[in-house]
Amino acid sequence: CGIVACTGTPGAGRLLLDALSRLEYRGYDSAGMAVSVTGDPRSAVLRTTFRVDDLQRRLDRWSPGLSATAGVAHTRWATHGEVSVDNAHPHTDCSGRVAVVHNGVIDNVLELRAELTGAGHTLTSQTDSELVAHLIERCLTQTSLRAAVEAAVQCLRGAWALAVLDSASGELVVTCHGSPLVVAESEQGVFAASDLAAIAPWVDRYRIVEDGDVLQLAPGLPWWREGVLVEPPSSVASTLRGTDLTRGLHPDFMAKEIEQQPEVVADFMATWGPSIGRKLWSPFGLAMPRHLTIVGCGTSLHAGRAVAQVAARLGGIPFTSIEASEVAATTTVPGSLAVVLSQSGETADVLRAVDALHGRSHPILALTNNPHSALARRAQAVMICRAGPEIGVAATKTFTAQVVGGTAVVLSMLAAGGVLDRSDIHRLVTQLESVADLMAYAIGAARGSVPDLVPALVDSPGFVFLGRGPGRVFADEGALKLKELTYRWAESHAAGELKHGPLALIEHGTPVIVVDDGSDRLAATIEEVRARGARVLSIGPEQATIPARTSTNAHGLARGVDWLGPLESVVGLQVLARELAVALGRDVDKPRNLAKSVTVE
Ligand code: G6P
Repeated sequence: CGIVACTGTPGAGRLLLDALSRLEYRGYDSAGMAVSVTGDPRSAVLRTTFRVDDLQRRLDRWSPGLSATAGVAHTRWATHGEVSVDNAHPHTDCSGRVAVVHNGVIDNVLELRAELTGAGHTLTSQTDSELVAHLIERCLTQTSLRAAVEAAVQCLRGAWALAVLDSASGELVVTCHGSPLVVAESEQGVFAASDLAAIAPWVDRYRIVEDGDVLQLAPGLPWWREGVLVEPPSSVASTLRGTDLTRGLHPDFMAKEIEQQPEVVADFMATWGPSIGRKLWSPFGLAMPRHLTIVGCGTSLHAGRAVAQVAARLGGIPFTSIEASEVAATTTVPGSLAVVLSQSGETADVLRAVDALHGRSHPILALTNNPHSALARRAQAVMICRAGPEIGVAATKTFTAQVVGGTAVVLSMLAAGGVLDRSDIHRLVTQLESVADLMAYAIGAARGSVPDLVPALVDSPGFVFLGRGPGRVFADEGALKLKELTYRWAESHAAGELKHGPLALIEHGTPVIVVDDGSDRLAATIEEVRARGARVLSIGPEQATIPARTSTNAHGLARGVDWLGPLESVVGLQVLARELAVALGRDVDKPRNLAKSVTVE
């Protein structure tokens, strides 16, 4: 979920809506806003179970939103309660005076629900968030909004970023605990939001709200820490202004972002290539690790595994990879360097994992695409992947950017640790630079080969992906992309494991997609599935069903970078998933049930 609040702005509704459109990556199950209207003590509320663009259409006919100067807004990823108007935020108290938007999850819902209904409060939703409005209502008659919010959060267990509007006074108060929140003052008004991107067009500097801080959204930002009025913390410069968020001539953002991969790699290497080595590693202030703990979710975890394999291959450094949500329950190797990957840097599971890793004194190196994210702020060392904004929910260019960015870090670490010398680095960096050309070739080849494959695959209920050694992680990523976009089952296995169970799934026509990294043993697996009627599609060398690289050096292209694994094969997998989704009429940029970044645990 994403929250935003603003005050001091005539036509607040329009600003809130604009900000919401940049928060939609946090969920798009429903959206809503509440504003205060002069002379009316009740909040005016507008909610939809559709997306922000539906709210936009309604706003045009909703005079309170157009005239108000203060309000709160929310985009939802459903946790407590189905997708319905009643469950959409903002939630109000019994009188309708207090309107609350919430990002996070409240744990002690049952207890609070019983207490509030017992005290005569009428609850109209199944959400945990509505309870907060009623808890505030309980205190508001005797005290200020700020004090009522402070008292309400005392009753909560879990995680929250809250923006609370009191329509009787037009006052706004925000606070957080375990969910990120930033605030900023500008000519357009005073803003609070789950992340900087939401309000970036209007602000040059912003401030980070720490857990437990409570503040009034008003000029000067009256700020309370541990109940004491304090000076607001120092502001941070924003670098997000003027970001290009348009689709251009592309049919969807995913198509654009797949195409951008060569330039993303080229840009990264132009910026960081000359520094790869000690110069890049030293500022991190990290010792050469003996072990890596790779942490992330979804695509980011796959990118982390690909990076760790480079460290293992070139430096013999062992690694463990752990889903972020499992870190708290997993024993980690003492002293291991935790490499935490997150495109958004806002994923709640990742942030909780960081807390657990801090608790065990692991040094933390973050790889993220968002320099202003909660992850970037909490890690000891940060590498920014420089992929630019990624709007499509299914990660594409940020996967490639994380692999290349992470590889740059690994090469630098091995140089600083004396494992690689200057000439090694020179050779490896030149090869890493060639990835931009490899990706460009793979895009062209996928564009040429994939559309013809789609008609025969579009009715398949399920898909099996196979890889071996360095190719395995890319097969995993391909299966994830296909699931996310087409809503079809896709399993990924180590090719050798197939005969130990999954082979039972194969029947006549089952599509089996093989990431061919050149391993001899793959041929035997391919024959085993072919013998059982599978439709085999390979991704790899020139003669593969979906070519990803040339076997000659024609066009000045390398044959692939062995120590990096078959990274370029991810392009064909992305294009395949997208083309199938388009043929099935899916929403390529916003698949059902998903969010680009899940900000609740
Ligand atoms: C969500 C998205 C995935 C993404 C994962 C991690 O589940 O749907 O596509 O890989 O979050 O996101 P992050 O921002 O932490 O990389």
